[in-house]
Amino acid sequence: MGRRRQDHWARQAKRDDFPARSVYKLEEIDRRARLVRPGLRVLDLGAAPGSWTLYLARGVGPGGFVLAVDLQPLRIALPANARFLRGSCFDLGAEIAAAGPFDLVVSDMAPSTTGDRGTDQHRSFELFVAALDLALAHARPGSDFAGKIFQGPSFEEARARLRGAYAEARVIRPRATRAESYEVFLVGLGLRLPHLVPCLGRTAGVA
Ligand SMILES: C[S@@+](CC[C@H](N)C(=O)[O-])C[C@H]1O[C@@H](n2cnc3c(N)ncnc32)[C@H](O)[C@@H]1O
Repeated sequence: MGRRRQDHWARQAKRDDFPARSVYKLEEIDRRARLVRPGLRVLDLGAAPGSWTLYLARGVGPGGFVLAVDLQPLRIALPANARFLRGSCFDLGAEIAAAGPFDLVVSDMAPSTTGDRGTDQHRSFELFVAALDLALAHARPGSDFAGKIFQGPSFEEARARLRGAYAEARVIRPRATRAESYEVFLVGLGLRLPHLVPCLGRTAGVA
């Protein structure tokens, strides 16, 4: 049953002309949290092969902008209102700053898995924190955030950091998530003013 449902999302992505089934995760997060609106400037971390970038570029429209970032190249024709930076989120702080400020930061970043659940979870936590730090540094007060994280021992710390920074925090596990996956998305709505955000730790990749 689980496998049949997964095949459904992959077939649907092909029909809808998206390079990855992960677009339906963002679609559900967006439906439930209402993140994407015309005119927004969006930072899209972990963008390759490019499904989220396509979804976001359509959603923000010609008056909006999407900055897509990934270690890997995109496999889409880049929309006119999007730009791609190839590299690690830990190294691109200056380039990301130059394209900000952002109204929405999303991260679908995932580490290459090692098979060791503890290691993978810790790396996923580090990517989540890097995304959150970039949002704190380069997003507008009142802006929103959604970041992927593998559930594990550091999950509660990640959630506490999110709660400290945003007026509202939610956990969403979209239906398109593979049954065997332990990933969820932490969604923050309404970034607090900078002086109200407690010190959240290191700012990865940001000068
Ligand atoms: C699940 S895929 C993203 C799928 C994408 N959202 C889509 O819809 O096409 C996770 C991505 O995270 C990227 N990634 C992992 N570590 C990263 C880092 N340090 N900086 C930027 N991207 C990273 C990987 O290269 C990979 O392409």
